[in-house]
Amino acid sequence: MGEAVTPHGGSLVDRVAPPEARAALRERARHLPALPLNVRSRADLILLATGAYSPLSGFLGEADYRRVVSEMRLASGLPWSLPITLAVARERGTVLRAGREVVLLDEGGESLGLLEVAEVYHYDREGEAKEVFRTTDPTHPGVAALNRQGELLVGGRVTLLRDPPADPPGPFPRYPAETRRAVQERGWQTVVGFQTRNPVHRAHEYLQKCALEMVDGLLLHPLVGETKGDDIPGPVRLACYQVLLEGYFPKDRVLLGLLPAAMRYAGPREAIFHALVRKNYGCTHFIVGRDHAGVGNYYGSYDAHRIFAAFTPEELGIIPLFFEHAFYCRRCGGMATAKTCPHEGAEHVALSGTRVREMLTRVELPPPEYTRPEVAQVLIQWATEGGYQRYEI
Ligand code: ADX
Repeated sequence: MGEAVTPHGGSLVDRVAPPEARAALRERARHLPALPLNVRSRADLILLATGAYSPLSGFLGEADYRRVVSEMRLASGLPWSLPITLAVARERGTVLRAGREVVLLDEGGESLGLLEVAEVYHYDREGEAKEVFRTTDPTHPGVAALNRQGELLVGGRVTLLRDPPADPPGPFPRYPAETRRAVQERGWQTVVGFQTRNPVHRAHEYLQKCALEMVDGLLLHPLVGETKGDDIPGPVRLACYQVLLEGYFPKDRVLLGLLPAAMRYAGPREAIFHALVRKNYGCTHFIVGRDHAGVGNYYGSYDAHRIFAAFTPEELGIIPLFFEHAFYCRRCGGMATAKTCPHEGAEHVALSGTRVREMLTRVELPPPEYTRPEVAQVLIQWATEGGYQRYEI
């Protein structure tokens, strides 16, 4: 068995109520003020409770929030790059009192969790957008989400009242403890995490395989929470991964797990967040490629590499593996980057996500230099069944 990686802050948070305590807690919840959660906050509650965001055990209080936004650190000084907050409308927030409990409701109005209100505080949306997203452009999806949310933040520890959901379905580990167990069972000492929100293509595979030359195992870790409307749905992306793994990877060197978190599209800051979360899932290494977690042209291609210099390797506790822009080179006859290929750009096949979306809209097969034929087939089938027509692109 491999040595388990120490979670961020020292230990894995577990705020899932034990099954035998749930009936009494739910009964108590019936008499508490209720707060409905949106999709992202629901995911955050579940990830907080299962330790994915260790050492956080609840939504950020003001001291943590301010330092995270301005310095990418919790009040304790520990690195943390994204504010995990619960926003509420002013009318709701002003009736909440520190020291009281509230019940958190899912979209169906069912009680999902409890929140011990530690504080209710004001915040500066524009200031947060500038620091976290490096823009206040309301069309940036992260800024748009921030602009939609309430005027007050509620901080406090959470408790999850149910088993964390197994959604989307399938035999994949979704939460840190089960993922760490799966890693340990494989006896891997070193594990590289790979974040993705897109269908797998050859550049992804290249990065994964370069990393696999150096470490014992790969945790292929697609993010399956809320993404922006034109990103391809989680189940379709999972089908892509399954056919790729089936045909092109040794079975005993890859674990396909899920990260049920929402995308924030915070580029560099999200790269740090993604790395810390993957440490909590048991990874020793983490892949950061070109424009990690980026959207549009808000971030430089390698800003997500540079940001790691703000921290010492010891305080991060997970080793980033940086990769440059990867492409297929016709002359080399394989995948490469500018570090390994001397040929002209005209020899390179590097399709943008937008271009692939256009091809799929026309039900046109992406070429094998871009993605494996088996993966292209899954995408085409989805497109034929109306995939993109259902979205505005
Ligand atoms: S992300 O939002 O999850 O970063 P995506 O799924 O496209 O988007 O990327 C997954 C990982 O692969 C990220 O680390 C990203 O930087 C990297 N990546 C994607 N495409 C390339 C490419 N052509 N060359 C190098 N790295 C890439």
